[in-house]
Amino acid sequence: RQASYDCWLQYEKIRDHEYYNQYVAYSRGIAVVGDSPILKSALDELERGLFSMFGQKSTVYNEAAKEASIIAGTFESIPLEDYGLNKASLINMNEEGYLLKAVKDEEKIIVAAKSDKGVLYAVHHLLRLLQLRESLKQVNIVESPKNQLRMLNQWDNMDGSVERGYSGQSIFYENHKITTNLERIKDYARLLSSIGINAISINNVNVWKVETKLITNDFLPDVAKIADILRAYGIKTFLSINFASPIEIDGLQTADPLDPDVKTWWKNKVEEIYRYIPDFGGFVVKADSEHRPGPFSYDRNHADGANLLAEALEPFGGLVIWRCFVYNCLQDWRDRSTDRARAAYDHFKPLDGDFLDNVILQIKNGPMDFQVREPVSPLFGALEKTNQMMEFQVAQEYTGQQKDLCFLVPLWKEVLEFDTYAKGEGSKVKNIVNGSLFNDKFSGICAVSNIGNDENWTGNTLAQANLYGYGRLIWNPDLTSEEIAEEWIRSTFGQDPSVVEQIKQMLLDSWSIYENYTAPLGVGWMVNPHHHYGPNIDGYEYSVWGTYHFADRDGIGVDRTIETGTGYAGQYYSPNKEMYNNLETCPDELLLFFHHVPYTYKLKSGKTVIQHIYDTHFKGAEQVEELIEKWNGLRGKIDEIRFVNVSERFQLQLKNAKEWRDQVNTYFYRKSGIADENNRTIY
Ligand code: GCU
Repeated sequence: RQASYDCWLQYEKIRDHEYYNQYVAYSRGIAVVGDSPILKSALDELERGLFSMFGQKSTVYNEAAKEASIIAGTFESIPLEDYGLNKASLINMNEEGYLLKAVKDEEKIIVAAKSDKGVLYAVHHLLRLLQLRESLKQVNIVESPKNQLRMLNQWDNMDGSVERGYSGQSIFYENHKITTNLERIKDYARLLSSIGINAISINNVNVWKVETKLITNDFLPDVAKIADILRAYGIKTFLSINFASPIEIDGLQTADPLDPDVKTWWKNKVEEIYRYIPDFGGFVVKADSEHRPGPFSYDRNHADGANLLAEALEPFGGLVIWRCFVYNCLQDWRDRSTDRARAAYDHFKPLDGDFLDNVILQIKNGPMDFQVREPVSPLFGALEKTNQMMEFQVAQEYTGQQKDLCFLVPLWKEVLEFDTYAKGEGSKVKNIVNGSLFNDKFSGICAVSNIGNDENWTGNTLAQANLYGYGRLIWNPDLTSEEIAEEWIRSTFGQDPSVVEQIKQMLLDSWSIYENYTAPLGVGWMVNPHHHYGPNIDGYEYSVWGTYHFADRDGIGVDRTIETGTGYAGQYYSPNKEMYNNLETCPDELLLFFHHVPYTYKLKSGKTVIQHIYDTHFKGAEQVEELIEKWNGLRGKIDEIRFVNVSERFQLQLKNAKEWRDQVNTYFYRKSGIADENNRTIY
């Protein structure tokens, strides 16, 4: 098996004597007390990691034996007092939290948690400390995840394809069946549990014909097998469902959420699902969105639709995760008053408070669709009486499709740190999605996954950093991008400081580089329709999708102001509302998202808009050449397979960046007739 397959769980042999001697005694005897499936996974991972790093098998005890140096278990199962630990002091920890502590003159490490899941997370943390060469001598860590649901959405179809997948085929399905390669799913579960993911929906939000039947006994026995594997790693299984299921599965006349037969149908259906999967997580629902069926067909609203399913799931503790990606996808480009950016807020704000307790609204981070730069969705903060969660996209649909390098943690951090002012200063998005600001019963973060059946999971090996970074960031949004990048590199490529520094810089620069050579100043899109890779400035300009830049010979941008535009800026709380609405205070990077300005408009940087476009596009392409040079400097310092994989991707990125540079610059030169101040080549 190639190193790239193991991602950040390399557990490379510790060759440095200093560290080896410091750690090795801990690895000789280990105890994991208890034998639930999750604790078995914890023991498995611990044995595997230690064996691989120290080259010797640990002796395993199933009780807190004197001889064991690492002792893991729940608070109930290990004698905390014997190690001078006091349970009462750990009471603030949440259900998934844990303690890692050196005791008995630093000779033993206690790995203790409230739940089995916490033990598994703690074991991963311990192994991470070893991979990062942290000292264990005085280790004393009390840790709890900051978000409740930490979820991934697979956009996998049962024919084996992955919607917006850039790394091969699905690991879950082939030929309209559930895969028989359950080993790979187990390996995925290992990766996910190591970064704290605790929920996953295993099929595409667009639920097609065969997938609609995932909730029937045609497939439930096999879904249950997947759920069994994931459960042993602390991960709950969810399914995306088709709102029209009663019609499509059992030939009912209607799927009207208020129809008594439809209600009964869902109740029976849910009961059936729980017979196969007793801890089933619930449903993810894309309804009345991009031609998927929903309550609108029956003149009902989204609360009616979501509550129908919520009532059926409630007796079993299941959740409805209802997506807010609802907008008119048959817009007339001539119509300047309709604004797709407004849609989520306009649809869902009026329903605030109408959803049942076990419904969570899933909101994309921006109001459009995972562009390289968007403002934060104004729905965050606007919903005061409704459970809500964030939706990110780890898959790089609009950010280079895992050919181009784009480390997304800094983008996600900006979103989570955004202050909505919903309850005055300090009402940050991270405090909304962790449930604290509005005291939500259920909350969290989910994201579209970026993996497929490629040997290295993510196509571009460096895209593994996004999956790792996503998990780590949503576990603790206060980690910095630098910390996360460094953890990932050291666990993935080892300790050589020159490798660590070089790759870290590359990752941290990459989002801004990608933004430089693609769509400028927050305007977005300008991509090839359908597949969304590469430039096409007018690709979506005269389409039905509501994604326009409105460039003419005089200027560019979308007027979303309150006075003369679509009024979108008014969906924010003050002072964000005024900041975006006012040309003078709108940040440069979002200028064209909120305003239509002449090419000669001067940015806060002192440059005109047109000169900014030229400069960033020349610079972006040059920066890609620099990335390639930096990567070439690593040849021989990392294994050849991973080196070559990334090199090949960089060649594609360079081609892409040049194409973007030349098409964007040429387009705007031809539109505006304004020459580049530096006389560089524009076609
Ligand atoms: C984007 C993406 C689609 C996806 C949709 C969604 O529009 O291109 O493939 O189905 O988002 O999030 O539902």
